[in-house]
Amino acid sequence: MLVTKLKVRDFRSHELAELDVGPAITVLHGDNGSGKTNLLEAVFIACTGRSFRTSADRELVRFGAQLARLELYGEGPDGAHEIAVGISPGEARRFHVDRSPVARLLDVEIRPLVTVFSPDRLELVKGTPALRRAHIDQVVCALWPARMASRRSLGQALAQRNALLTRIRAGQASSESLGAWDTEVGRHGIAVMDDRRSAVALLAPRFGEIADSLGLDGGPELVYRPRSLATTAQELTAEITARRATDLDRGFSSHGPHRDDLRLARGGRELRSYGSQGQQRLGLLALLLAEREAIADSRGRAPLLLLDDVTSELDPERRQRLIDLLGAQGAKGAQSIITTTDLGQLPSRGQMELIAVPSGVSQTTSLAA
Ligand SMILES: Nc1ncnc2c1ncn2[C@@H]1O[C@H](COP(=O)(O)OP(=O)(O)OP(=O)(O)O)[C@@H](O)[C@H]1O
Ligand SMILES: [Mg+2]
Repeated sequence: MLVTKLKVRDFRSHELAELDVGPAITVLHGDNGSGKTNLLEAVFIACTGRSFRTSADRELVRFGAQLARLELYGEGPDGAHEIAVGISPGEARRFHVDRSPVARLLDVEIRPLVTVFSPDRLELVKGTPALRRAHIDQVVCALWPARMASRRSLGQALAQRNALLTRIRAGQASSESLGAWDTEVGRHGIAVMDDRRSAVALLAPRFGEIADSLGLDGGPELVYRPRSLATTAQELTAEITARRATDLDRGFSSHGPHRDDLRLARGGRELRSYGSQGQQRLGLLALLLAEREAIADSRGRAPLLLLDDVTSELDPERRQRLIDLLGAQGAKGAQSIITTTDLGQLPSRGQMELIAVPSGVSQTTSLAA
């Protein structure tokens, strides 16, 4: 659905705020601490049921208040919809969709898909392979929700195999008993590798194109780097079995798709090690935007993109390119909400709603476009 409005009550610094969301680009501008990221967080929670900043409900409820309430309004092909979230520390979060209670927002068909860019997420480019693996698995899940099961089964098989390795080391089991788990890891592992490969195949050309148009020059590339080159479950199982001695020595499963990585590079060199701050930012943006296009193609609707403090560290030319790209995606129905402290930094263009977030906590605000 197309998001049209957010209302929050006693959420973070906002006592009462109403935000009109435009069809393409909405810009929230205001001073440091005025509550811009708080509003993005509120949108994210209303779309997913959880925060991208914290898991502690206490932090989300305004100081001195007992209950935070969020309402997100939108228009789907079948009419208007409303998602409401109630947050009260010490209690389960309460969700209502079109006024009926639901247990989990993630299962709700009409909820907007959503993606966040925040400076914290640069860890995806700079950090450990585990972050990129988890991310590509989430993309697989967003592209093809039914394939989530393989990832879960692989995690369970690995946990069982590792537990057995511990028992064998303690002399409580024999190494022959590993056979069944080698097979399970091989079977689910190859499925997960196939999914990751298919997702990266969809993303890679888009990543190259988008990164290029954002000004990440010098041949940007996104490549899947599997730990194993096996193409069948049998081959992967055989590789895992062949490493039993090492695994028993170390006490964990040392080989398999849980050691895969995703390579983001330009000019043949990894952004992780050689990218400048701005280049790493552009790499992350290109990845998120490429995912948004791929998800829009496969699911028939583009995720809402929340861009927190995206323009800092980008030069004026690259800021312009980013806004142009968001505008072009916006013209195809993909919404973006951007925060900035300095409106002067943003090149203006049509289809952009500007919303001032006034400073001062506990304000009662109507943030109309
Ligand atoms: N539970 C809460 N109750 C009241 N105020 C809160 C709560 N949680 C956070 N705040 C306040 O919200 C403000 C931060 O809001 P936010 O992070 O949205 O600012 P911002 O506009 O994004 O600023 P910046 O431009 O620096 O990123 C801080 O002043 C913080 O004290
Ligand atoms: Mg902020």
